[in-house]
Amino acid sequence: MEDRLILSASHLKKSFRTGRNNNVLAVNDVSLEVIKGETLAIVGESGCGKSTLARILMRMIDADEGSIYFEGEEISGLPEKKLRVCRRMMQMVFQDPASSLDPRMKIRDIISEPLLAWKVYDSRSKREDRILELLELVDLKEDCLDRYPHQFSGGQRQRIGIARAIALNPKLLICDESVSALDVCVQAQILNLLKSLKQKMGLTCLFISHDLAVVSFIADRVCVMKNGQICEMAPASRIYNDPQHEYTKYLLSCIPQI
Ligand SMILES: Nc1ncnc2c1ncn2[C@@H]1O[C@H](COP(=O)(O)OP(=O)(O)O)[C@@H](O)[C@H]1O
Ligand SMILES: [Mg+2]
Repeated sequence: MEDRLILSASHLKKSFRTGRNNNVLAVNDVSLEVIKGETLAIVGESGCGKSTLARILMRMIDADEGSIYFEGEEISGLPEKKLRVCRRMMQMVFQDPASSLDPRMKIRDIISEPLLAWKVYDSRSKREDRILELLELVDLKEDCLDRYPHQFSGGQRQRIGIARAIALNPKLLICDESVSALDVCVQAQILNLLKSLKQKMGLTCLFISHDLAVVSFIADRVCVMKNGQICEMAPASRIYNDPQHEYTKYLLSCIPQI
């Protein structure tokens, strides 16, 4: 695998059993490469296989066929024990922070959970310093540490989810519909936050969304998916100005014009 790639996948396939004689081919022969430092967006209508693809890439579920390389090492066949380091380097930000943050935990505990699990700091005060640093990175104030998730707005909760996701300095952040549940203005704020974090931390981002308009704010390259397959993958400017595939043209025609 080339040095410029952080992740590459070839010929991934995954089907799910949905009934006695029914299978859904959620991911059907997908190959892609993620370049270090870029934001690669994966777009397509709901049900086209985006989340399944993300879960396969993170090894949260196993593909039926195909291989995955992370920083040059094949991880598709690695046993759970050997996946530990790679898990740390790939983190996920989910769609619905309300359900991905434990409602009984204070924000301090939510953010320090990965630091404790990985025994990153040997003292409480060093950990506390890191928590404050993370809060600053996501533009939250110190006084939120002793509060609970339900005391925050959707956008603030997403900031908390992002703080937790970047706590271990991952190399790859996978955002699965991370702004889809938010109001348009708040979406823009979170997208700007992700952009600035990318710069500050040298993150690579896989940004999954059903919304081509949202993706245009953040993507360097766009991969368009339909029915478990990639129909077009190109630099963002090309996708928006000179789409080649009929389905990409169709998705673009669905963006409301002001
Ligand atoms: N655990 C599962 N069991 C059965 N079917 C599933 C499962 N996960 C996803 N699917 C099906 O796979 C297809 C792709 O789903 P998904 O990856 O969630 O799409 P997207 O994220 O693009 O909306 C859908 O038809 C969905 O119903
Ligand atoms: Mg999904």
